[in-house]
Amino acid sequence: MPQPLRRVRTAVLISGRGSNMAALLEAAADPAYPAEIALVLSNREDAAGLERARAAGVPTAVVESRVFRRDRDAFERAMEAELHGHGIELVALAGFMRVLTEGFVTRWQDRLVNIHPSLLPAFPGLDTHARALAAGVKLHGCTVHLVRPGVDDGPILAQAAVPVLDGDTESELAARVLAQEHRLYPAALAWLASGRVRLEGAATRIAADQAAGALANPLPGHAALRTSGAGL
Ligand code: GRF
Repeated sequence: MPQPLRRVRTAVLISGRGSNMAALLEAAADPAYPAEIALVLSNREDAAGLERARAAGVPTAVVESRVFRRDRDAFERAMEAELHGHGIELVALAGFMRVLTEGFVTRWQDRLVNIHPSLLPAFPGLDTHARALAAGVKLHGCTVHLVRPGVDDGPILAQAAVPVLDGDTESELAARVLAQEHRLYPAALAWLASGRVRLEGAATRIAADQAAGALANPLPGHAALRTSGAGL
């Protein structure tokens, strides 16, 4: 008899809207998906994503970062109490707007993943779409990576590229990238949760899914680039 899949208990950390969280919840609604979203944790009570998580019946927790003021260690200890209390094995940052300490990142090494709205190592930090437009790049995109202590640093799991079109506004470009984030993050988290990621120096190798490891979008012949929900 086939063994039931043991799904990796995963927490999604958010600070706001939670559209990437929603994409992960949607993927994890499939019992064959290798990660179970066992907790959505926010550092802000007013994060809109919390409502979406509750509506989906997922356990939520709030550790208000502003209560801890500058004591990042105490803030992270409170978060880790929630993570351990829910038996969390893997943590996915999804628009979580707090920089984590080296201690936290080291304790969760290779079990902590982030999505960033640029083709890293280009444009780490904030305002990536405006900076991409100002720099005049022709390709922009998003990156899912393992987290290391530097800001938006760590081995890259997957990237998706989108074209920058003449006359793009920041919000048009952001929407084009976001549509790809919603495809990329569930795929990359699945690779990690199913143990298919191997580290080789600063790079990762994805077992048996090489072709999907680096996504270039649009594929030749792809239409409707300006449609925010455009998939492949
Ligand atoms: C996304 O663009 C993500 O890449 C970045 O923050 C944004 C969060 O959006 N880290 P959402 O909350 O997932 O909608």
